Amino acid sequence: MRQRIFSTYVCSLMLSVVMVGSLLAAITPEQKKELKEIGLDAIKIGPLVAKKKFGEAATAIKGLEDRLSNFISGAGIKENDPALKTVRAQLEKVKSLLERAAAKGGGVTFEKNVASIFAKKCVECHSEEPKAGLRLDTFEGLEKGGNSRGLIIPGEAEASVLIQRLITPEEEHRMPYGKEPLSEKEIESIAAWIGEGAKFDGDKTATMTTLAKSALVAKPIVPAGKAPIVKETGKETVHFMQDIMPEMVDTCGRCHNDTQKRSGFSVMSFEKLMKGGDSGAVIVAGSLENSRLWRLVNGDDTPVMPAGNQTGITRKWYDNLKTWILEGAKFDGADPKKNFPSQQDREAAALAKFTPEQWLERRKKASEEEWKKTFPNAEPNRRESTEFLIYGDVSDERLGQVEKWANEQAEYLRQTFKVKDASLWRGKLAVFVFKERFGYEEFNNSVHRREVPREVMGHSQVNSAMEDAYIAVQDIGDTATETSPGMQVNLMENVTSAFFKRGGPLPDWLVRGAGLAIAHQKAAGNPYLATMPRLASKTLQESNLTDPELIFVEGTFSPVETGPIGCTLVEFLLKRGNLHQFGQFVQKLQSGATADAAIKAIYRTDGNALASLYVAALPSAAKKGKK
Ligand code: HEC
Ligand code: HEC
Repeated sequence: MRQRIFSTYVCSLMLSVVMVGSLLAAITPEQKKELKEIGLDAIKIGPLVAKKKFGEAATAIKGLEDRLSNFISGAGIKENDPALKTVRAQLEKVKSLLERAAAKGGGVTFEKNVASIFAKKCVECHSEEPKAGLRLDTFEGLEKGGNSRGLIIPGEAEASVLIQRLITPEEEHRMPYGKEPLSEKEIESIAAWIGEGAKFDGDKTATMTTLAKSALVAKPIVPAGKAPIVKETGKETVHFMQDIMPEMVDTCGRCHNDTQKRSGFSVMSFEKLMKGGDSGAVIVAGSLENSRLWRLVNGDDTPVMPAGNQTGITRKWYDNLKTWILEGAKFDGADPKKNFPSQQDREAAALAKFTPEQWLERRKKASEEEWKKTFPNAEPNRRESTEFLIYGDVSDERLGQVEKWANEQAEYLRQTFKVKDASLWRGKLAVFVFKERFGYEEFNNSVHRREVPREVMGHSQVNSAMEDAYIAVQDIGDTATETSPGMQVNLMENVTSAFFKRGGPLPDWLVRGAGLAIAHQKAAGNPYLATMPRLASKTLQESNLTDPELIFVEGTFSPVETGPIGCTLVEFLLKRGNLHQFGQFVQKLQSGATADAAIKAIYRTDGNALASLYVAALPSAAKKGKK
């Protein structure tokens, strides 16, 4: 059809060129020649339009119009000279032909109209290990066909196997196999492409996704890095930093950050977000249609984002994103170059603004919830002192005893390590006391979802921002034996661990070791603590370490083995230096130093040498185990 319009048009144009000669008796032969050439060049624009080279056609028309106005001024004739009428009319004709063809969107192309359908609906069964031997993940595969070969007859959509497979009423043959048939619009797109000759001059080995993407890239609306950053005016209803940034960093930032940058795209700062990825800017202010980011989130293009988890965003965020783009994708942050804060940083920043009262309220609420998780139907006894919030299913009198011991230990630590802070733990340290083993195990099950080995009778949970700050202990009674330290030492150990954890994460051996070793200073004759050197020797002998330094490495020993190793190791360090040096050593580790670096800085020797000295100082069993 289009072909026919085109030839009629070419004929009429040629005819008029011939006529031009006879009408222009008043102008010179040279001028006649020039007009004839303009006419001939106009003819050449027709094929450009037919080949959809709209840009070139437009440039050519503009060139001819310029030539014509030069001709007019050069020849000294009037704009409305009858000699120009025909050429003018023909130029108008070619212009309107171009306009009409361009308005149709440039006809169908494989990249723009077809590739994404294959990518979305077919590649799942027709790529590696293809069904019926047919690969549809590249153009090469489509061209080659499957077991029954040729799928496409160019120009004849209805006769093409491909279309038949999409429209057949026999479900067992209709594609996509076993699924909803393609929409009418999708089938029409494929049919139109075949009808127009099934043309393709792209890369036959590129994936369908890449091809579909390249169709968008082909009309770059905003080149990469050129998207302007516009400040909020105050009239917007959605605010980037509050409504878009947090979920974007948490969800999209998993694959689009500075180290893992899928498609060259990072969402870690506003500048990076607006710069876009491999396909250029992905956000176009005010236009959902042209914002690739929106198209991927909305499922207009594939693969839908967030990749692999299409339910990974909230409805609210989706709505906000849409409004934000429509309102002009504006920025209300301080510095577009600065990386956004991580989820943890944001929480910490919010907590940093808390007053002591807010902290206490938060701690009480969290602790009550933790208790409820363990015993939904039983109220605890409660006590509160300067440093502690104490909860337990033991008697109130017993809880009073626990409170006294805990206060004493806190005071001891405060003085020993010269702490000046108004309170040791923000919002106080919660202490959970369980009368029975069952209660302690239940707490571990419901709060931490873990089983605890029999030998563990208490633990501490404190992080440096202090969102969490509690210890949980089993009331093991006051009699100390070789297998039980007694309640007071159990409490001392865990309060001490909680004390050291205030400054940041520490290896387990140090946390447990410091608790036990410092308790040992006050409970010298405790029979449980007296077993530590022997147990440590036995552990070392059995583990047969290749390298003594491994004792400092997290995970070398089981949680049960860590107690004796840690206790003897910290006691060894305390003997080598003083308490003050030990405090410095802890701080070094908390500021991120390796064990080896911290040992070098504080104890003036290296990790291996120190570890060997430690092993040598243990009772003889360990030495026999050394190789
Ligand atoms: C869920 C899996 C699945 C999906 C999705 C799927 N197919 Fe198939 N396809 C098959 C199976 C199985 C066969 C072989 C059975 C048959 O020929 O009917 C097959 C066969 C074909 C054949 C015949 C090939 C030949 O040479 O015999 C064509 C054509 C085809 N598929 C096209 C498509 C197209 C186009 C799409 C996407 C619109 C698609 N398929 C999506 C499973 C699938
Ligand atoms: C699990 C990883 C993962 C997550 C999470 C993820 N993406 Fe992607 N993203 C990818 C991969 C992989 C690509 C490249 C896909 C392709 O081109 O085939 C990509 C590509 C993109 C692109 C195209 C960039 C370009 O220039 O072509 C945009 C935009 C994008 N993702 C936005 C998002 C947004 C917004 C989110 C969060 C809602 C998100 N992504 C979450 C993995 C992910």
